[in-house]
Amino acid sequence: MITTCVFDAYGTLFDVTAAAREVAAEPGREEFAHHWSSLSEKWRQKQLQYSWLRAVTAEHTDFWQITKDGLDWALEAEGLAADTDLRDRLLALYWQLSAFPEVASVLTALREAGQNTAILSNGSPEMLAGAVQSAGLEELLDDVLSVESVGIFKPAPQVYDMVIQRFGCAKSHVLFVSSNGWDACAAAAYGFQSVWVNRRGEPVDRLPGQPDHVFSDLIAITGLVTS
Ligand code: LAC
Repeated sequence: MITTCVFDAYGTLFDVTAAAREVAAEPGREEFAHHWSSLSEKWRQKQLQYSWLRAVTAEHTDFWQITKDGLDWALEAEGLAADTDLRDRLLALYWQLSAFPEVASVLTALREAGQNTAILSNGSPEMLAGAVQSAGLEELLDDVLSVESVGIFKPAPQVYDMVIQRFGCAKSHVLFVSSNGWDACAAAAYGFQSVWVNRRGEPVDRLPGQPDHVFSDLIAITGLVTS
C-alpha cells in the first residue's frame, strides 16, 4: 500500500537543461548555441559530484553554492568563463526552470487518489520555493522538504528519514520517484518503494538498491496507487 508519493526535484519535476537551452535561443547567443548542450551536461555532472563529495567529506554548503561552483567549472571547460553576463543569465533561469509537461496532471491525479505528495530535494528552500512557484505547483504538494534541514546531501540516509518524520508512515508505504538513477537506488536500499524515471534511456546504476519500477516519464506512476 502506498500512501505518500515523494519526488526528487531537479531532473525529475524540473527540466535542468531548460536554462541553457532557453539562453541558447536568445538573440545574440548564436555562439552559445554550439555549447549549451555540452555546458549543461558538464554543469549538472559537476553539481552532482560536488554534492556527493561534500557529503562524504562532511563539508556541507548549500545547493545554490554548488550550482554556482558547477557552472563556473563548466563555463571554464567550455572556454566561456569571461562571459559574466551569460553566467548571470544561466543562474537566474535556474530559479524558474520549466516543469516537465506531465508533472501537474500526475500530481493532481495522485492527490485525487488520496496520496500525500511532496518534494525531497538537495535544493535549498529558497531555490525550491522559486521553482515550485514558477511552475505553479504550490497547491499540488503537501510539503517541500530540503536537505538544508539535515545539513547533508543525498544519498545520506538522514535525508530519506525526513520523509518518515514528516508523514509518520512506514518506509514501505512511500513511493519515491527520481530521474537520478543513484537516488532511486539509494531510496530502494533505504526501504522505500522506488521509481527510476529514466528520461534519457540510460543503463541502471550498479548500486546496492535497485528501483522497483523504471518508467520513461511520470505518467505510469498514477497506475501504482489505488484510490
Ligand atoms: C535533487 C537533485 C538531486 O533535486 O536532483 O535533489
